[in-house]
Amino acid sequence: MWPTKVISKIRYLQSPHCKKYSVIASVLEKANVGDSTEVKGWVKNLRVQKEFIFADVSDGSCAQRLQILIPKSLKTDCLSFGSSVHITGKLSKSPRGQLELVAENVTVLGACVVLDGYPFNPRTTHPPEYIRQYTHLRSRTNYISSILRVRNTVTKHIHDFYTTHKYLNVNTPILTSNDCEGAGEVFKIQPDSEETVKAMMQEGRDKDTVYFGSKTYLTVSGQLHLEAICRGMGNVYTLGPTFRAENNRSRLHLSEFYMLEAELAFCDDLQLLQENIEDLLKYVYVETRNTNEADLCLIDKENGNAPSWLNKSFITLSYEEAKAILEKKKIASTEEGLNKEQELALVEYCGGVPVFIVKWPKELKSFYMKECQDDNGKVDALDLLAPITGEIVGGSLREDSYGKLKDKLPSDKLNWYLELRKFGNIPTGGYGLGLERLLQTMCRVANIKDTLPFPRWPHNCSM
Ligand code: 4AD
Ligand code: MG
Repeated sequence: MWPTKVISKIRYLQSPHCKKYSVIASVLEKANVGDSTEVKGWVKNLRVQKEFIFADVSDGSCAQRLQILIPKSLKTDCLSFGSSVHITGKLSKSPRGQLELVAENVTVLGACVVLDGYPFNPRTTHPPEYIRQYTHLRSRTNYISSILRVRNTVTKHIHDFYTTHKYLNVNTPILTSNDCEGAGEVFKIQPDSEETVKAMMQEGRDKDTVYFGSKTYLTVSGQLHLEAICRGMGNVYTLGPTFRAENNRSRLHLSEFYMLEAELAFCDDLQLLQENIEDLLKYVYVETRNTNEADLCLIDKENGNAPSWLNKSFITLSYEEAKAILEKKKIASTEEGLNKEQELALVEYCGGVPVFIVKWPKELKSFYMKECQDDNGKVDALDLLAPITGEIVGGSLREDSYGKLKDKLPSDKLNWYLELRKFGNIPTGGYGLGLERLLQTMCRVANIKDTLPFPRWPHNCSM
């Protein structure tokens, strides 16, 4: 038990001495007509009328703006679109029945001179390509701020989903000596300081390994580390930054993205993984619709209506079935695997419902995937394809036979990974979901660079 003194301090946080309503979201949620309150935010719109100025103020806490009624008798120097303001006053109801704040005092905290180079205009929907040029300012636009709020709650709902199912949230390392996927898309890490390098090289190491004693990279996936904890503590997940040095500037690729990865203990059936992924996506989707209705309405207005697969079951096709469908649709190719056009064609074939492609040829997938019991040329792998993005999830059962894994291990640096199969081994399966691609498919965002605050892609890391 904590001493009473500590508990009373915690209670203090909820006491009336604290500012009751600090942000617009709370004002709209809890405040009543007649309450005195104050808001701080940015002016999104101004209308000057005979006796009053009407200002719509937003503070980022929700999609809704609070209408401020400013009597013309108040001092409002420098009040303009884009300026930051502190307003105190009393809440009342507008003739349309909406909560509004009748200002008693207006302070302009930061002026905004639009003609001095501010790139946005009031009452204008700027195209995403235009907004993207102003990464440092774009959180002031309705579209990007709505997406960032949706991203925030999607993350929360992901954590809630796994917490409810008693998964352990594990922070897997960002610096690692393995290239999990083995696709050679790693960024190498070295100290920048020549002094440090010089001093450490005197200890007899070469430049690549001077700091850690082995080549070190930014992680491409936390999977192997998750597997280590999973084999000691059961179901685990992680949601963190992931890095890929692909020379790819497509609307679906980033050099730095967030990946949600889960590893399911005692999982020996791909179907279990599929059900887990489908449950997760539907949960996150429904919960976000509930928490961010206004944001999603605004985004839908821009990007068209949200996908309608919520009440449908996801579809499953084997890799061979998928290839046969593509053949019939005359978009087969001589290349192995599925290209983006083919992935999207398969989603369309499935009526816009996400589709799992399972049972992949062994040579197309990574070393850690488990051979199918009935066909040792295939592995128990899955890709989940969705509208807008094509692949959003990649996963598999993991090879749990010590002997088979030993034969496939790409490097003896992964002996620790092999050893996981030696002591108290269990079957596991897991997957990785790209957070930005999830946002793309949920909100129909064509370009992945609009789903996170500061996108990085080849030749673009200026901020
Ligand atoms: O299919 P991937 O490469 O799977 C893995 O990394 C596994 N080790 C995950 C696991 O089993 N724990 O990547 C998973 C997902 C992709 O389906 C995609 O959504 C996203 O990560 N992704 C990217 N997102 C944005 N930009 C990139 N360059 C991406 N590469 C992969
Ligand atoms: Mg993949």
